[in-house]
Amino acid sequence: MARPPATNSCNSSPEADAVTSRPQTVLITGVTRRVGAHLAEHLLAAGHRVIGSYRHETDALRALIDQGLIALELDLLERGRLAAFAGQVAEKTDRLDLIVHNASIWHRDEDVAAQPELATAMYTVHVTSPIELTEHLQRALPARKRDDGHADRQVVFMTDAHIDEGEPDHIHYIASKAAIQSSVRSLALRYAPHTRVNAIAPGLLMFHPEDDTDYRRNRLRRRLLPFEPGPGVVSQTIDYLMACPLINQAVIRLDTGRRWEN
Ligand SMILES: NC(=O)c1ccc[n+]([C@@H]2O[C@H](COP(=O)([O-])OP(=O)(O)OC[C@H]3O[C@@H](n4cnc5c(N)ncnc54)[C@H](OP(=O)(O)O)[C@@H]3O)[C@@H](O)[C@H]2O)c1
Repeated sequence: MARPPATNSCNSSPEADAVTSRPQTVLITGVTRRVGAHLAEHLLAAGHRVIGSYRHETDALRALIDQGLIALELDLLERGRLAAFAGQVAEKTDRLDLIVHNASIWHRDEDVAAQPELATAMYTVHVTSPIELTEHLQRALPARKRDDGHADRQVVFMTDAHIDEGEPDHIHYIASKAAIQSSVRSLALRYAPHTRVNAIAPGLLMFHPEDDTDYRRNRLRRRLLPFEPGPGVVSQTIDYLMACPLINQAVIRLDTGRRWEN
């Protein structure tokens, strides 16, 4: 049996308590692995209703479905499918409290040089499709202006702390993440007062299995706090954003601070 959703001391009023103590309906893109899978599992365990998008079926996806995930297929490269996807979401729920644009692709510049279309693909997955999907969801399942002034919906984009630091081997990837991060303010202006818009900009969260010991040591050496945080820090930040009705147009950097010498 699902636990009741946790409340958070950040609540500013009885109205906010009422908002955060009821189960929320959340859409997360890209729940097949790593951060998206962890966040979906965390929110399901907290008693929320979670709709997750997937491209490929994985063991993690099947486990989430067993825990109650509503799984919908979506390839963000297919922009012509976004309106139909928003319609499918609207068939599953009559309200949507939170959208987490988590899906991502991460190509090196040397891969882009060999396959130039990868630059466009990163821009589509990180920028164009999330903006268009947000708009289609607003049409299919409108967030509404509330009498108490609180937002009815929140949109969160997963960006990257390296936007500020620079990343010489991933210029296209970082440029696409910077583009969506720059749209946070504009989207918040467009959607106020019914929707607030924020971003989470992580630095290193999780290594990839293929990252060797030297790479791991070097990455950690450049952090002020040299540990691999794991995906739980994203779930903690989402909990905080859900509970704090005041936070809008914010970019929350999730890194440990960075040493500038190499
Ligand atoms: N992990 C880190 O250390 C780190 C650091 C900085 C920022 N971030 C950001 O945090 C988020 C999660 O990171 P992660 O490491 O968990 O990412 P990940 O392992 O690369 O997972 C990305 C997810 O996006 C989905 N996806 C990829 N292409 C898609 C497409 N065309 N249409 C729909 N879904 C697609 C994947 O689904 P399929 O498997 O089905 O393709 C997968 O579920 C990302 O936005 C990432 O940029 C992560």
